[in-house]
Amino acid sequence: MKSLRLAMLAVALPSLILMNADEAHSADANYDESKVPHYTLPDPLTANDGAKITTADQWTHKRRAEILKLFENNVYGQLPAKPAGLKFTEDAPTENALDGKAVRKQIAIHIPREDGETVMHVLMYLPVNSKSVPVFVAYNFYGNHTIANDPGILLSKAWMMDNDDKGVVNHHATEESRGTSSSRWDLDEILKRGYGLVTIYYGDIEPDRADGWKDGLRSRIHHDADGKPLAIEDWSAISAWAWGLGRVMDYLETDPSVNAKQVVVMGHSRLGKTSLWAGATDQRFAIVISNDSGCGGAALSRRAFGETVKRINTSFPHWFCKTFKNYNDNEDACPVDQHELIALMAPRPVYVASAHEDQWADPKGEFLSAKLAGPVYALFGEKGVDVDEQPPIHTPVGDFIRYHIRAGKHDVTDYDWEQYLNFADRHFGRHH
Ligand code: GCU
Repeated sequence: MKSLRLAMLAVALPSLILMNADEAHSADANYDESKVPHYTLPDPLTANDGAKITTADQWTHKRRAEILKLFENNVYGQLPAKPAGLKFTEDAPTENALDGKAVRKQIAIHIPREDGETVMHVLMYLPVNSKSVPVFVAYNFYGNHTIANDPGILLSKAWMMDNDDKGVVNHHATEESRGTSSSRWDLDEILKRGYGLVTIYYGDIEPDRADGWKDGLRSRIHHDADGKPLAIEDWSAISAWAWGLGRVMDYLETDPSVNAKQVVVMGHSRLGKTSLWAGATDQRFAIVISNDSGCGGAALSRRAFGETVKRINTSFPHWFCKTFKNYNDNEDACPVDQHELIALMAPRPVYVASAHEDQWADPKGEFLSAKLAGPVYALFGEKGVDVDEQPPIHTPVGDFIRYHIRAGKHDVTDYDWEQYLNFADRHFGRHH
């Protein structure tokens, strides 16, 4: 009797009782290539009225807007307009930092709302004596103070996910948090190559939890870019975060130490989904980088490999808009797939990166998206990923669309940064 009850409990609560987090992941996920369903992808070059898109002009003036709308309506939701009355102030004095290798700036972006303001705290490291330098803009997961061991970085006061390894206690950063994510930020190399790094804690815009909208910007802006009413579920946390990156761009356009025409937006994982959506919705970003962004990022949803639409909507109901839930176990019904998100970057350079041990993010699906955006780049005479098969590890491929898979886990490594810097150098006409 006792064992029967235990067995019943195990059936009812398998992921809670019997499995660790990774095993729980795999319980609902397919990792078998032969079980990937047969699917037909929507064609980025067939317009909603059935017309074939054959020129860059038709793409730019007709089809691009259609696909963008489809993503707004079905995946990420709408975005508000740029607010009037943005203000930028210094959070701390600008100083030399990192043993004289950089200048550290900390800027507050004040976003006016109906009931006050939302403040984004921006940390910038720039090469010394910077004038008009290219920069990488990227959100961080646990506060600006985690990205380097620099006591001059203001400790984030925002809510964050509890995490012992990151020194987060009761949802707030402590002194122990400093530098805990530094392995993900190859600052030395970024600065040595003449680039600046601009980073912001994504929770400044909306805390990353199902009801985070209550404390975030999303419950305080009530109209979309066309002035139409905007309900909470008509946009999403990812839209709100992406929109925040646009406000960072607004600031960068005012800062003479930065070349606002050479701003690379980069993000890892959920923040890679965000960097892609930011690049799609704000064409001021000159280069867009997705690091291990997976489901709802670079990976094709229709492959349902690793994390699926249903799984992501269940674990993270706040990331996508209401309509995206209609595609749980029903990916074919979605009028877009993620190769069309990559295509929205055209003709700007875009980089999609995977990690070999990150099957949850479906590296092959990420590769296929990068590859299948190619026909749109071809309209502009630019080459995308010019190989048919996913390349072996550590073998980047492609020109305006570039792809690599590296050894190792879901992470951002120095190898990834080296490729991104090479990519930016090439497209910005810089030599190293
Ligand atoms: C989870 C989630 C992914 C996401 C990742 C991350 O694993 O399922 O979709 O990319 O978290 O952001 O680290």
